[in-house]
Amino acid sequence: MCGIVGYIGEGQAAPIILDGLAKLEYRGYDSAGIAVYDGEQIRIKKSVGRLKILVELTHNGEMLPGNLGIGHTRWATHGAPTDVNSHPHYNAKETIAVVHNGIIENYIKLRNKMESKGYKFVSDTDTEVLAHLLDYYYKGNPLEAITKVMHRVEGSYALGVVFAEHPDRIFAVRKASPLIVGQNSEGCFIASDVPAILKYTRTVYFMENQEVACLQKNKLTFYSADEEVLHKEPVTIEWDAQAAEKGGYEHYMLKEMYEQPKVLEETLRKCISHGDIRIDELKMSESDFRSINKIYIVACGSSYHAGVTGKYVIENIARVSVEVDLASEFRYRNPIIDDKSLVIVISQSGETADSLAAMADMRAKGIKVTGIVNVVGSSIARDADYIMYTWAGPEIAVATTKAYSAQLMALYLFAMKLGKAKGTIDSEVFSGMLEDLKLLPQQVEFLLSNRSKIQKFANRYIGAKSIFFIGRGIDYAISLEGSLKLKEISYIHSEAYAAGELKHGTISLIEEGTLVACVATQEHLYKKTISNMVEVKARGAFVLAVTNEGNYDMEKEADYVIYIPKTNPYFANTLAIIPLQLFGYYVAVGKGCDVDKPRNLAKSVTVE
Ligand code: G6P
Repeated sequence: MCGIVGYIGEGQAAPIILDGLAKLEYRGYDSAGIAVYDGEQIRIKKSVGRLKILVELTHNGEMLPGNLGIGHTRWATHGAPTDVNSHPHYNAKETIAVVHNGIIENYIKLRNKMESKGYKFVSDTDTEVLAHLLDYYYKGNPLEAITKVMHRVEGSYALGVVFAEHPDRIFAVRKASPLIVGQNSEGCFIASDVPAILKYTRTVYFMENQEVACLQKNKLTFYSADEEVLHKEPVTIEWDAQAAEKGGYEHYMLKEMYEQPKVLEETLRKCISHGDIRIDELKMSESDFRSINKIYIVACGSSYHAGVTGKYVIENIARVSVEVDLASEFRYRNPIIDDKSLVIVISQSGETADSLAAMADMRAKGIKVTGIVNVVGSSIARDADYIMYTWAGPEIAVATTKAYSAQLMALYLFAMKLGKAKGTIDSEVFSGMLEDLKLLPQQVEFLLSNRSKIQKFANRYIGAKSIFFIGRGIDYAISLEGSLKLKEISYIHSEAYAAGELKHGTISLIEEGTLVACVATQEHLYKKTISNMVEVKARGAFVLAVTNEGNYDMEKEADYVIYIPKTNPYFANTLAIIPLQLFGYYVAVGKGCDVDKPRNLAKSVTVE
């Protein structure tokens, strides 16, 4: 989704902003723009397409001299990706410039109102209405104008605003869209996400909804929506800038896949001590765990897929009933839920609009929410009743790999803790599971070391029209994620099916040579899955099987078999997903796709 970077300080603003925007490219965008105050006026340059076009257009910012500026990468919502629709947007006099991330829901009403007052619009965006509204309410006091606008717009926004009449300050405000403020000895920054400014500072302030920040060269002031000065504490970012760099790998996605063993190990190190699970930040007591009689897991995308696995794992280990919902559905479906239920919201970014809204809705009804979140200080992390972090570090590739694996690990630990509190697993089983968990990092490492075999296999499918993934139970959950990984980065049509459901329609799509990836790690379902596999094979499919070491009879049925090391069946997802991630990755690489920044997708989906 859109990215915002702003800077005021001793240095030249444009190069710092362009550099910061480059660090936000992973979020997904289709145009970029920048506004710099040059001592006399606010000058804007923007361009559709990749950021490098804007970099070239401005000679890496040199053509826009000045110590104060705001920049933006736009992911089109209202109006096509064009130069005109790109941000920043001006008022008519070009004395106010604004960049915006989010959606102004009542923009049509506001636009009509402003047009009736004689304001002329040049773009199709909802954002332009903000520039004109600011102009309308600005009577010499920028803070007053901003708070007035804030009270009149509905929807979500993170804004950076510059007023030519106040060239010593940048204003920032947010509601339901992420924005951080940073500071060092030479100046202040705003950004949508930490990596954009990490090169310059580790001192960061997470803005709350409807707070306004006023950034000056040597001063940072925060205000409430009522214009009262607020005291805010900074947070020091611990992870290093290198964690968000490519580090010699061809793509971030490959690097992040290779970080999975480390991520799993780190989570285990943090959460297992003296033969028990201790999740320090999760402030749920034994009795909180014991009182749960139903769980709703709510998430989007891959986080939802982790949730589907979580359902099987929690139900089996802790014998608590679990429903899994897409956040975009859950928030509108009015679920029957009581205060003994727990809602678990899973989100890598902690900023996904639908997940945030679902959480807010539940909390307003008095239902407790546990967030499983990767980004420390994100909105879900801050607003959830309980929080459990996934220790994956910054994930840059749009297609998630390590954050997804960390979510699975968090769910295993949660399920085991719940099972222990509920008395559904005895200590021997519990200890055995802990031992299995500890083996996962090296098992993942082993699977990653086989990547060249998978690359060879993947190369055969770069021309495929459709690829199917099938499995039952946890294997179905694995299939969902395997299929998503492939389609989102390679643009090959792919679907995941519960293997038993094939006969009810999908099987008619199987043609001679269609690749069907069949996941069969769950021993109690193995024979059933094989029979579904045989059915597709009989209709001409080429079958790739992913199964457990030892199931060598699979070679009689499947055309190509990938074995995963033995583990507890509940943890099989962590292993089986590795070859499927590699497969999706290498098909996309083989096709020459932009693996880290697939078309139309965004890393952090901050609009509904
Ligand atoms: C986007 C990303 C996915 C992610 C999903 C949910 O679609 O491309 O990788 O799984 O959002 O995001 P979240 O940050 O809530 O996990």
